[in-house]
Amino acid sequence: MNRIRHDGPLIIGGGLAGLSAALEAGPRPTLVVTPAPLLQACSSAWAQGGVAAALSVQDDPALHAADTAAAGAGLVDPSAARALTEDGKQTVEWLASLGAPFDRAADGAFAVSLEAAHSRARVARVGGDGAGRAILSALVASVRAAPHVEVWENGRLRALVQDDTGRVRGAVIERDGRLTEVLATAVVLATGGAGGLYARTTTPAALLGEGMALAYRAGAEILDPEFVQFHPTAIDVGLDPMPLATEALRGEGSRLIDAGGRFLLGEAPDADLKARDIVARAVHSARAEGRGAYLDARTAVGDKFPHEFPAVFAACMRAGLDPRETPIPVAPGAHYHMGGIAAGLNGRTSLPGLFAVGECAATGVHGANRLASNSLLEAAAFGRRTGRAAAEEIGGEGETRKASIAPELTPEALTALRVSMSDNVGVVRDADGLARAMVLIERLEQEARGALPVLAARLITGAALGRRESRGGHYRTDYPNTDAAPRHTRLRREPEMPTPDMMAAE
Ligand code: SIN
Repeated sequence: MNRIRHDGPLIIGGGLAGLSAALEAGPRPTLVVTPAPLLQACSSAWAQGGVAAALSVQDDPALHAADTAAAGAGLVDPSAARALTEDGKQTVEWLASLGAPFDRAADGAFAVSLEAAHSRARVARVGGDGAGRAILSALVASVRAAPHVEVWENGRLRALVQDDTGRVRGAVIERDGRLTEVLATAVVLATGGAGGLYARTTTPAALLGEGMALAYRAGAEILDPEFVQFHPTAIDVGLDPMPLATEALRGEGSRLIDAGGRFLLGEAPDADLKARDIVARAVHSARAEGRGAYLDARTAVGDKFPHEFPAVFAACMRAGLDPRETPIPVAPGAHYHMGGIAAGLNGRTSLPGLFAVGECAATGVHGANRLASNSLLEAAAFGRRTGRAAAEEIGGEGETRKASIAPELTPEALTALRVSMSDNVGVVRDADGLARAMVLIERLEQEARGALPVLAARLITGAALGRRESRGGHYRTDYPNTDAAPRHTRLRREPEMPTPDMMAAE
């Protein structure tokens, strides 16, 4: 295997978190490795809502922190939520200074819109529903112009490299079928979430929780992996991944109805803006009962659709459905992983040399349920902090251990896993379904021992089995109550000794 030494941080992931970290890591030479060309196959580019921040005179970071904590159902770390929300305004201004063309009010201030479970209108949007792509495009341009950043596109993370102390010293990257061991002063995982483990998802299908699985395998602490957020209004037109119908449509007054035109959550005008898990379960139940679930935007949005929500409009029209005339069929889709690699506000994990940021990290700001549009804020705000911290690392010395490469799953095995995760580890869970999912996971572990998507699925499913209560995004019909005392799930394994059935990376 080829080996190179990079005198600076190695960042794995080219979404908003990874690129924000890369820009702030300067002047330290920074290598960014992304599995696809920049702007492709990362969730940030698909985000429709925007960046949540206290931007208006009616708002305050403390109110934003309180809403964040309320959504998180007892498991939000108050100091993390405070840090995130206090960073809000300057983060939006930083993104704007890089060229992100946020929507503006007549007086030039950021235009803000309302999303579910926010007590104030505070979501800064771009071109209606085009925030993710527009913001990321601005960052990509800045990264391409930054002399300290080198980008390897189409490079896939295959293993972490450690020394005998457990310190992470680099990573094995596969490009064009060749493996390269890249030694670096710090490794930043910005690998995104795990939505692709589900057959019904709004995220790129390639996001299989592999960063989390590799971090676990290396001995890093994993926090609350059972908490997966399901977006209530994934557009159900037979596509994989499912296009998203942004929550902002409900903020504008669009309503959730069944096939008979009855409101799913009651008549009150704000009934559909409850916390995302509640709305997702209402959509799930209506579908399970055979009533169907639809987002009716005909009156609230109507003719404004093409220019106010161009991305959703285009997705509907491509599927042969005109949302100005027809309610949009919707289903819950796996959308965001609140759990992940335990990390501090500057991305430090429990393993020296390893940082994590963005959706693969669990920093305590989302708890059991993420507040809408807090993810882009977290990615950029904590991405910047992480880039600065990673740039200060001087790295380790001495020999490294030989990295081992996990086997790939066959397409058939991955399909079976995804269907099982959606059916058994989805919006509504119980012991029988979770046990069924575990049986499949164990079978796949026999077939492809150490395969990273299977390990990620085991972490999520095992923690869901262990959490005998309902909280936030984790709902169990057999344990519908919420325990009085919130507790975290913390998982950690001993640093790995290579096993003979994992192919040595040579
Ligand atoms: C949405 O636009 O509904 C999604 C926003 C988010 O997930 O934060």
